[in-house]
Amino acid sequence: MPLHRKLFVTTALPYANGNFHIGHIMEYIQADIWVRYQRMQGHEVNFVGADDTHGAPIMIAAEKAGKTPQQFVADIAAGRKQYLDGFHIGFDNWHSTDAPENHELARQIYRDLRDIPDSAGGTLIERKTIEQFFDPEKNMFLPDRYIKGECPKCHALDQYGDNCEVCGSVYAPTDLINPFSVLSGARPELKHSEHFFFKLSDPRCVAYLEKWTQDGRLQPEVANKIKEWFSVRTNPDGTKSEGLGDWDISRDAPYFGIEIPDAPGKYFYVWLDAPIGYLASLKNLLDQRGQDYDAYMADPKLEQFHFIGKDIVTFHTLFWPAILHFSGRKAPDNVFVHGFLTVNNGEKMSKSRGTGLDPLKYLSLGMNPEWLRYYLAAKLSARNEDIDFNADDFMARVNSDLIGKFVNIASRAAGFLSKRFEGRLSAEFGALGAAMLADIRSESDAIAKLYDTREMGKATREIMLLADRVNAYVDQHKPWSLAKDPANDEALHQVCSVLINCFAVLTRYLAPILPQLAEAVQGFTGLDMAKWNVDSNVATIAPYQHLMQRVDVKQLDALFEVPEPAAPIVEIVAPGGEVIAPPISIDDFAKIDLRIARIVACSAVEGSTKLLRLTLDAGEQDATGAPRLRNVFSGIASMYSAEQLVDQLTVLVANLAPRKMKFGVSEGMVMAASHGDEKANPGIYILNPWPGATPGMRIH
Ligand code: 2FM
Ligand code: ZN
Repeated sequence: MPLHRKLFVTTALPYANGNFHIGHIMEYIQADIWVRYQRMQGHEVNFVGADDTHGAPIMIAAEKAGKTPQQFVADIAAGRKQYLDGFHIGFDNWHSTDAPENHELARQIYRDLRDIPDSAGGTLIERKTIEQFFDPEKNMFLPDRYIKGECPKCHALDQYGDNCEVCGSVYAPTDLINPFSVLSGARPELKHSEHFFFKLSDPRCVAYLEKWTQDGRLQPEVANKIKEWFSVRTNPDGTKSEGLGDWDISRDAPYFGIEIPDAPGKYFYVWLDAPIGYLASLKNLLDQRGQDYDAYMADPKLEQFHFIGKDIVTFHTLFWPAILHFSGRKAPDNVFVHGFLTVNNGEKMSKSRGTGLDPLKYLSLGMNPEWLRYYLAAKLSARNEDIDFNADDFMARVNSDLIGKFVNIASRAAGFLSKRFEGRLSAEFGALGAAMLADIRSESDAIAKLYDTREMGKATREIMLLADRVNAYVDQHKPWSLAKDPANDEALHQVCSVLINCFAVLTRYLAPILPQLAEAVQGFTGLDMAKWNVDSNVATIAPYQHLMQRVDVKQLDALFEVPEPAAPIVEIVAPGGEVIAPPISIDDFAKIDLRIARIVACSAVEGSTKLLRLTLDAGEQDATGAPRLRNVFSGIASMYSAEQLVDQLTVLVANLAPRKMKFGVSEGMVMAASHGDEKANPGIYILNPWPGATPGMRIH
């Protein structure tokens, strides 16, 4: 490892269509700890982030919100600072993939790539005409996720254009039966369009990427998974994997993105310009400082690292290194992949505690951000594995380890030093004390190595073992007993001085995780906590002020509290020809998830006189942000025509288990009123909310 490293570090760029969730915060904290550690070692680091602003989902979300995409992403960006500052995440810069730097860099990188000859006498960027679905109402080509229809294999309804969630088969959107646009409900038309492809299948690309991914730099589990992408094989389901395919990097207007040079109306696919946003944010930072970006990047000493989640590995280990390498740039040195964060095992902990962990709610409850930093650090490793935030475990680790073992060392010693020795520390530690202090200092390299290799959980465990030793020393020497007799003053002075010195060393070890506490300890001891290796002793201390509170269980209860709905009013009468059902508890009622839904499409069901087939938008999205529509059959054909219902709002029982019917799967039920005596009073009336209700709102 060079004595002085020059590091360029990023976290994945979040889509600018939502606020940060706890998963983002975990990634940023992991990277921030690593960066702070590297800085303490004296290395030079630029640590940047940005909003990932482009693509169809953001364009559509902006339209829905009645904003321009630029205004939409600016509004999201304005909300970022409170999270980053709140959790002490010290990015040097936060930028946007829609910023001019990114437009320029993406276009330049593309130009550099465009002229590279491939192995077959063409170039690495190839144009091919493809057939794609087009929404005639929205006037746009539809990404696969925005087309739905009936599965060609198992005939399940309302399946996405790329694969069936019921039978698992994979197909092209053109294979769907009765396809419809998720955006307008219209039947899509097939149209030709010229797309730009990056020829990853070119033998030179394959050879380069095989080497880059398999030369030992990546985490072993990540490298193994990627290996599959290179092999030509038959999958267990009989489909063939062809090895690396070419990558479609263009999208047609209208698209919120970066226009491709010399190709009006063609835009870069969002995943082409997103990682270039790393460079754009860095360039913006260097420009602000008057530093030269090209010179910075050209320095052979520069190391480039990306912290990312396991869901975006292919983009970062295949596409991104290939883009950089073949455009004549240096590929990243490594990507560090982490797993997902679940909260309370994704389950309710108790009646009053829900499941999500809202980062802003955490802060607004006055919970210390460094508790979370410590807890996550204690759980993190260098492996790509999921971790769980467990509220009870959180409280135990913070209260027993962080406060009980570590912070208490200072509080037990500082009072005596201030009151009895005017805050001055002894330079004599006694044989035992001196040996312990030396031992604790001698762990410096081992702990440093754990940080450097991102074994943060191991680092915290090592540090707590050292704290255990210090506490055993406290129990052995009992400063509170020594303090009772002035004849023991010297011993008391030595013991407390040993404790404060040990505490200062442990604080330094924890400083990447607990920057605010380290700063307070710097003020209290006068030692520079910004550097890793400082062996000087503490000379005097300022009066001790409490460094950290314990977690109160009430805070955790409040953090996970789901507000209780108001008590129901049950009238004991027999209206509508039907007696009122026996009372249920509010918890029973809360099990039924009722949502406002818009009927985006409606049609008669062939072979049934009673049923209408409704396509409902209940405001849902899948993991990629694409809207998810539901197919629901309803026995209301005697009352309403299909045309009457389209675009109406109604009430959907959203968590009713899907039901396979003769005509397809019904994914929920719309609510309708009818008389108990249907023969005498045959009407059935669908519910319609008052104006102001919008799809997805829950009915309480
Ligand atoms: O998956 C995501 O959230 C993407 N917005 C990550 C982009 S990372 C980088 F390439 F910009
Ligand atoms: Zn199917």
